[in-house]
Amino acid sequence: MLKHMRILSIETSCDETAIAVVEAKLGRFEVLAHVVASQVKLHAKYGGVYPTLAKRTHQKNLPIVLAKTLKEAGSTKAAWKPLDAIALTVGPGLDPCLWAGIEFAKTLAQEWDVPIIPVNHIEGHLIISLLASNLARPSLLKLGRAKFPAVALIVSGGHTQLILVKGIGKYKILGETRDDAAGECFDKTARILGLPYPGGPAIAKLAALPKLRLGRGPKRSLGISLPRPMLHSKDYDFSFSGLKTAVLYDYQSRSPKIRKSKEYIQAMAREIQQAIIDVLVEKTMRAAEEFEVKSIVLGGGVAANKELRKRFKGALMAPSELCTDNGLMIALAGYFNRAKKTKRYGRIVSQPNLTI
Ligand code: KG4
Ligand code: ZN
Repeated sequence: MLKHMRILSIETSCDETAIAVVEAKLGRFEVLAHVVASQVKLHAKYGGVYPTLAKRTHQKNLPIVLAKTLKEAGSTKAAWKPLDAIALTVGPGLDPCLWAGIEFAKTLAQEWDVPIIPVNHIEGHLIISLLASNLARPSLLKLGRAKFPAVALIVSGGHTQLILVKGIGKYKILGETRDDAAGECFDKTARILGLPYPGGPAIAKLAALPKLRLGRGPKRSLGISLPRPMLHSKDYDFSFSGLKTAVLYDYQSRSPKIRKSKEYIQAMAREIQQAIIDVLVEKTMRAAEEFEVKSIVLGGGVAANKELRKRFKGALMAPSELCTDNGLMIALAGYFNRAKKTKRYGRIVSQPNLTI
């Protein structure tokens, strides 16, 4: 049975300003409100997240998102029903962005006289994948299907980690990326091809289109073949920067006419997506076998990718819209971290570490 608790969460680690209110009661979590303000359009012209602009935008958006969240939860700041804690993302993420959330949470915590629960962003992605996978009603979440030990692949714009999950709060990192994250690889290769930010959805969209033939006359193959970095390495680490370089070299080796063609860009998008997915699937399945796990979990922004989801059929994963950053995942992780709550912001000095 879950401890009855009402939590408000704040997430500002990257380019989404997100706040949610969740109530834990009678063995389930009820989502009272869940608002995400995305800055994606703002950063698109820079081809990635511009940290100081993101921080300023979080500062501007936080009071607006809070008012919207409280309204959705059926309350106002002046007449707030008892709140037990504020769950707050304290890392990993972009430092200026995290601080925008920390300062805001600190003021609210003092005003409402509630403790702050520091939350690890990656654990948020992991926990929402465990819980939201059995969504019958989007506003009601249960732990239901999760069986341990599990192996979790968390793939986002900033992180790629393979985690052995012995239970909620009991984690061992089996491997992680040695350079770029999987989402970062999507974003950077998309940029080489002249596609918009974020690159993951842009590449996925092109990769899903029917194959195009290059020119008239006899079928010509573009002969694109990208590496699958560290596919057969004995460890559970990943590396995606070589893949990005391979895309750049191939792109530069083509004539301007070819590399601007729809045929080339689509074929490249398909091969980039395939190469990333092949490595992610192979390593996760190998870990699942070696550790004889009872479930496989997929989470993080890249888990919104349709092809990846198909290859992870049967795995626990949140609906696509809850794979990218949101406040709900932080509220849920906050609940499971409630023992770590701090009375005052001053004690949140370091980013919590997932390894135990
Ligand atoms: O988890 P998230 O929202 O933010 C971080 O914590 O980083 O993940 C964002 C990342 C971006 O790199 C974006 O390109 C990628 O997730 N992404 C996708 C898709 N949707 C978002 N990658 C591949 N396919 C998608 N459909
Ligand atoms: Zn994230």
